[in-house]
Amino acid sequence: MAFRINSAIFRSKSRSILSFLKTDLGCTANMSSANGPKVFVSRRIPEKAKALITSQCNAILWEKDEPPPRDEYLKAIAGIDGLFCLLTDKIDAELLDAAGPNLRVVSTMSVGYDHVDVKECAKRNVAVGYTPGILTKATAELTIALLLAATRRLKEGIRAVENGEWGTWKPMWLCGQGLDGATVGIVGLGRIGYTVAQCLNPFGVAKFLYSGGRRPDAEVELKAEYADLDRLYAESDFVIACCALTPETAGMFNADAFKKMKKTAVFVNSSRGGVVNQDDLCAALQSGEIGAAGLDVTTPEPLPTDSPLLRLSNCVVLPHIGSATHDTREAMAVLAAQNLIAGVKGEKLPSQVE
Ligand code: DGY
Repeated sequence: MAFRINSAIFRSKSRSILSFLKTDLGCTANMSSANGPKVFVSRRIPEKAKALITSQCNAILWEKDEPPPRDEYLKAIAGIDGLFCLLTDKIDAELLDAAGPNLRVVSTMSVGYDHVDVKECAKRNVAVGYTPGILTKATAELTIALLLAATRRLKEGIRAVENGEWGTWKPMWLCGQGLDGATVGIVGLGRIGYTVAQCLNPFGVAKFLYSGGRRPDAEVELKAEYADLDRLYAESDFVIACCALTPETAGMFNADAFKKMKKTAVFVNSSRGGVVNQDDLCAALQSGEIGAAGLDVTTPEPLPTDSPLLRLSNCVVLPHIGSATHDTREAMAVLAAQNLIAGVKGEKLPSQVE
């Protein structure tokens, strides 16, 4: 076994005497279900999910907000039956090999699973769990917050107030573009894209264009029009990226795409940083090829503080907080825990990547 139990740092208080033991890798070994399946939880997670896991599994908990260094991660997972991971953990062949042949499930606490090599998992008969659905509303809400922040110039406004640049009320100062009468183009009308459109509709949006998979329901409910990307870029006042990161979408928002957009277009991305060519976006924002951008995701994350994007007044960057409401994060963690537990029992996962 990869761990030596350091009995000097017992943490059990009111819990059972063998409740939690610190290991020499900085993890906490939960011994309350010592005979249960062995699982590794790669981050500090909401209590409710932790309790669910530790009630049924022999859990090794990395109880920190920062991920384990890769070498420690690889050591910690040796011989596990199940892995609870986050979107920042690269789950590739090396890691799956380090886990070994007992591994039955990789459960990610995210709807995106571009960080998991699903093919390598399938080769090893490892089920992959994810958390679709429950973060849709929170992420749509944040996408709209970003859109409004970018188009109504909130970053410049807040800075002006804080820097004492707020003079008298001026008719032309900090004007942006409203949603009333606008055309909104959504690239990827999946769960989140659809909800974004539903929420934007009452703002008086004149037309929704969308690309990606066909959604007849959106064409009825929102009168959304399916459009090829050229048309979507050319006609949209707002272009919102809601598509998953795949080999097909990687870097699709590039110089070519920005050139096709309106000079006033507001570009919003709450999916994955990898769908954008960030240098091209920066150049488009600097040269006035497009009007503004709102990003909740970047490459890399965290975005270095010397990134030129952060110096642009027409670019709002948030730290990947689309799903960050208390209830949503707890629900995501609980669903990921349920996926993990079902997986180690050899059952079908409640939300399984097919
Ligand atoms: C996800 O779940 O994939 C989001 O990016 C974070 O909630």
